[in-house]
Amino acid sequence: MAVLLTGGAGYIGSHTAVELISDGRSIVIADNFSNSSPGVIDRIEKITGRRPKVYDIDVCSPEALEKVFSENEIDSVVHFAGFKAVGESVAKPLMYYENNLYATINLLKTMKRHGTRRIVFSSSATVYGNPKTVPIREDADRYCTNPYGWTKYMSEQILTDAANADPELSVVLLRYFNPIGAHKSGLIGDDPSGIPNNLLPYITQVAVGRREFLGVFGNDYNTHDGTGVRDYIHVVDLAKGHLKAIDYAMNNSGVLAVNLGTGIGYSVLDIVKAFESATGLHIPYRIQQRRSGDIDACFADPAAALEKLGWKASLGIEEMCASAWNWQKNNPYGYGEKK
Ligand code: UFG
Repeated sequence: MAVLLTGGAGYIGSHTAVELISDGRSIVIADNFSNSSPGVIDRIEKITGRRPKVYDIDVCSPEALEKVFSENEIDSVVHFAGFKAVGESVAKPLMYYENNLYATINLLKTMKRHGTRRIVFSSSATVYGNPKTVPIREDADRYCTNPYGWTKYMSEQILTDAANADPELSVVLLRYFNPIGAHKSGLIGDDPSGIPNNLLPYITQVAVGRREFLGVFGNDYNTHDGTGVRDYIHVVDLAKGHLKAIDYAMNNSGVLAVNLGTGIGYSVLDIVKAFESATGLHIPYRIQQRRSGDIDACFADPAAALEKLGWKASLGIEEMCASAWNWQKNNPYGYGEKK
């Protein structure tokens, strides 16, 4: 019996692969490496001493996915695969809807044919849009502000409808807040292509000399220092949440939506300070215009994760920043060469 990880070579997928293998579980990875590096697989093997079985396929291909399910005994799926750049989704909405929604549908159809009944879905706090209140509970209103977010929202709905129609199906929707940091080995980490959109990779690229300064997107938000507040969570804590979610799905049917966050909000300037104190480095920054679509504050009420999954984040902001830097300094250009 094995767990299938779609998008298992990506940032969150690779960390989850390591935690699953380290826990003695069998995994199969399906990834077309469109936004990840084949070199990740060597790194997973180096950390765990075991090389996962890998299929270089597009999860949208019915034939390719059928082959994965017919050649392996898949008893649960963690579905990470999908396009994830907010700005790109605004420019290319149809590409996002076609890829992200069809992957979910194809997966569910293939699972049904093979009697696989447990799926954990990589969703996002983006489904809460601009929250009316924080901390955010799972029953808060949902609304999205860009096509990427809508693909998460709609995939949640597709999975929920599939579970309503099939009482044996078990679905866990994991709503991630802001994953940062890296495995303590420094062998795997976040490696965005092009100019990073997200805060931490931008900071680590400034630290390693690839970028001159950090642009802070606005200092007039309704927060303690005017910069945006988010719930940053260590990617290894997040990865461990997936193991708990798989176990929950093994023992329950129906749909469960769970926030994976720490419940603590840090501003952009808090993060700059935390990174400086964890690493001893100086991060020059300049205040710039707000980024369109950004919100004041977003952080989780993580109570349901503890109650339903028995999961709680354990790593603090210092470990998040130190591990992100450990990864970047050992791999200044990520998995590749100078880009
Ligand atoms: N920020 C900067 N400068 C940068 C990058 C970001 O000041 O160069 C600020 C943003 O304005 C925001 C904070 O840092 O206040 C965090 O921004 P990120 O881009 O790192 O993260 P977001 O919260 O905007 O988005 C993340 C994921 C999305 C997901 C969303 C859910 O990237 O995929 O969380 O809340 F949808």
